[in-house]
Amino acid sequence: MTTRTTATPIQSQFLQRMSPRAFVPEALTTAQVEQLVDAARWAPSASNKQPWHFAYALRGDANWEAFSNIPNEFNRRWCLNAGALIVLLSDTEASPGKHSFDAGCAWGYLALEAHAMGLATHAMGGFSADEARQVLGLPANLVPEVVIAVGLRADAATLPDDLREREVPSGRKSLDEVLSAGALQTAA
Ligand SMILES: Cc1cc2nc3c(=O)[nH]c(=O)nc-3n(C[C@H](O)[C@H](O)[C@H](O)COP(=O)(O)O)c2cc1C
Repeated sequence: MTTRTTATPIQSQFLQRMSPRAFVPEALTTAQVEQLVDAARWAPSASNKQPWHFAYALRGDANWEAFSNIPNEFNRRWCLNAGALIVLLSDTEASPGKHSFDAGCAWGYLALEAHAMGLATHAMGGFSADEARQVLGLPANLVPEVVIAVGLRADAATLPDDLREREVPSGRKSLDEVLSAGALQTAA
């Protein structure tokens, strides 16, 4: 497996965290999910409105089957081996215009806490919002932002061929491409 490297001395967690699709089919514990969401809730948010909520099912618990229907067909191919599925909701009324931004930051905190715990996370935008609304009984102000698969990482060999080929650390645009000293350069 390739190892991610970069030129500045950033913490190794940023390079080592990745979103795998191969998970060991073992349930997480409630305490593990509580630790993940505890980290997430310390994320900064506009006016400290904390416009997020997390709904979860542990693999095999009473809610697991209903949660299993929320991800789309592609994601169901791999995420049903995860130890937990967490639906991250944002509150449009609590923080109009900033709810998604703040929820995204909370997801980042959760992902890095999971990494520190030896767990892997994989966010999914590919899911049915209607199904999430129905399963979770959501009021109109709560928006399902993403479904997060969490669990212990498994060997890529457990994946079907097409997914196994994709089980490699992704790269990034260069720092130069995303950073400007002052105004952006425009084409002449
Ligand atoms: C908001 C969001 C939605 C995503 N949706 C999906 C998805 O539906 N299915 C999937 O396999 N990966 C999904 N991903 C994972 C991204 O493809 C992945 O984070 C990106 O390629 C960078 O790779 P890395 O997380 O391994 O560094 C999603 C990630 C985010 C943050």
